Amino acid sequence: MSFELRGIDKLNDQERMDELINYIKIQLGDEDDSLALMSNISSFIMATIANLNWAGFYFLKENELVLGPFQGLPACTRLSLDKGVCAKAFREAKITKVDDVHEFADHIACDSASESELVIPLFYEDKVYGVLDLDSPSKNNFTDIEVNGFRKIGKLIEEKIYLG
Ligand code: SME
Repeated sequence: MSFELRGIDKLNDQERMDELINYIKIQLGDEDDSLALMSNISSFIMATIANLNWAGFYFLKENELVLGPFQGLPACTRLSLDKGVCAKAFREAKITKVDDVHEFADHIACDSASESELVIPLFYEDKVYGVLDLDSPSKNNFTDIEVNGFRKIGKLIEEKIYLG
C-alpha cells in the first residue's frame, strides 16, 4: 500500500483520526503478520495524530509489561505491574487518560518530554494482554476525539495483533 501524507497538517483532529482509522483498516485488510501490523500502526499513529512524542505497545510477559513495536525515543523495556500509567490501565482493564503526568504519583517518565498520556488496554477473548500507549509533549492533549478514536482502534486491532 502507499501512504499519502501530504495535506495531513491541514486537517482538524477529527479528520486526522478518521484518516488514521481508514489507514489502519486498509492495513488490516492487507496484512496478517502481527509484528508487521504493530510496527506500521505505531508509525501511522505518529504520522497522522498531531502533537505526540511516543506511540507504541507493551505486552504482559513474566508478570511485567514488556516493550513492543513503537515510534519515538527509546523507552523503558519493562514496566512493573504496580507502577505507572500503563500498569494502571492494564490492571483496571480500562482506558486511562492522564492530563498532567507530573500530577500522577507514580508516572514512569521514559521520555522527559511527555506531559500527558493516553493508554488503551488490549483484549484477546475478553482478557487484557497488553496496552497501546500514547504520549504527548503538551498537557491536556487528549480529548474525546482521541479517547473515542483510539477505543475504536483498540477494538479493530486487538485480536489481529495478538502474539499468543
Ligand atoms: N509513561 C508510562 C511508561 C511508558 S513510556 O511513556 C513509553 C507509564 O507511566 O506507564
